[in-house]
Amino acid sequence: MSDYAKLFEQDRAHFMHPSTHAHDHASGALPGRIITGASGVRIRDHQGRELLDAFAGLYCVNIGYGRTEVAEAIYEQAKQLAYYHTYVGHSSEAIIELSARIIDWAPAGMKKVYYGMSGSDANETQIKLVRYYNNVLGRPQKKKIISRQRGYHGSGLVTGSLTGLASFHQHFDLPVEGVKHTLCPHFYKAPAGMDEAAFVRYCAEELEKLILAEGPDTVAAFIGEPVMGTGGIIVPPKGYWQAIQAVLAKYDILLIADEVVCAFGRVGDKMGSQRYGIKPDLITTAKGLTSAYAPLSAVIVGEKVWDVIDNASTTQGAMGHGWTYSGHPVCAAAALANLDILERENITANAGEVGGYLNQRLRQTFEGHPLVGEVRGDGMLAALEFMADREARTPFDASLKVGPRVSAACLERGMIARAMPHGDILGFAPPLVLTRAEADEVVAIAKAAVDQVASEVL
Ligand SMILES: Cc1ncc(COP(=O)(O)O)c(C=O)c1O
Repeated sequence: MSDYAKLFEQDRAHFMHPSTHAHDHASGALPGRIITGASGVRIRDHQGRELLDAFAGLYCVNIGYGRTEVAEAIYEQAKQLAYYHTYVGHSSEAIIELSARIIDWAPAGMKKVYYGMSGSDANETQIKLVRYYNNVLGRPQKKKIISRQRGYHGSGLVTGSLTGLASFHQHFDLPVEGVKHTLCPHFYKAPAGMDEAAFVRYCAEELEKLILAEGPDTVAAFIGEPVMGTGGIIVPPKGYWQAIQAVLAKYDILLIADEVVCAFGRVGDKMGSQRYGIKPDLITTAKGLTSAYAPLSAVIVGEKVWDVIDNASTTQGAMGHGWTYSGHPVCAAAALANLDILERENITANAGEVGGYLNQRLRQTFEGHPLVGEVRGDGMLAALEFMADREARTPFDASLKVGPRVSAACLERGMIARAMPHGDILGFAPPLVLTRAEADEVVAIAKAAVDQVASEVL
């Protein structure tokens, strides 16, 4: 038995993978892949195959793979101080420097940074901060959180509830009480005859209706991704965030910007908040903060919430919230090296420029294609949505699995593009260091894959 055959056997026997068909995996019906190395925008597997990773792992490897500078920073930090906790005012040099750097990347008005290891745990912290804020302000009834259909905020109990995708709720008794969902701002799916401005008004009105139905004094916060990621790469229609923020301000509702995908350059700006004119009270980041070289998330707390927390501590004492690994020095060192590279190489600008080129080439290639209903994206995020009838916006029968088939056809041709979980959508979120030539390669492979599936299903 080859080494890999043995490894696959052990994998099937003992490793419980996330989001994986349990039986197909254990039986071997699902072909596994062992990733053995990576460099730039490409990964290598156990067969020695090189694949262009047009999804940057899970939209996280912003600086690209194989940056030894980050590996060395991790090594140096681990040698000097591999760990100490950050409870009761303890710090490391790396985490202090990182906190200041993150505030520089964030929009105006942000004050403090709290650390976790994942987007999910960071959003969990956000909801706890929102509860704490209203409790110490003496309004314990103001607790509900409004999220959006097709939003993605993690897969814990509360964060899985915030996520507005049915597959994350089923069989888990979610959403938990106090989490409500409002409209997904997908203009392509707007009611017939509505123009973009009318659709934006409609989204804001629906939000206001929900707030009034729940009772404004019971609604604490709204959470949203600047560009929706996992729900299908949905760029907000023009004026959307301004209209939503006006409603939130009217009812004294906090805004949490979930920037786990958008922050650190992906949309061609420092964060999605700056790009779309969002003025959040709280921001969640993860992924691009370390480009996934080490697990780290950051909850960025704005002045308004921080002032209340700071004040409350004088009467309430320390807040009873913390993780063993909050502010882990090795992860902080990885983040600092990652931010050095992002800044030094002007990678955010590349994401805007080459991402714009990628989106333009995708539109040129696929608008009017018989399999494609919509081509959309911004910065280094893009998607193709497949429709049986573009004008009537009729989806394919789900059993045809058009999205997964296009993704598989891309893979056969040496590229990873992700079949998104809702509808027949192929997502692109390459490393932000993508070159124009690589963008051309992405589009050429996608074209061949889409043509193949079109010839099979149309
Ligand atoms: C916008 C957003 N928020 C939160 C999360 C959850 O992050 P994690 O998977 O690190 O828990 C994700 C993950 O994809 C995400 O895209």
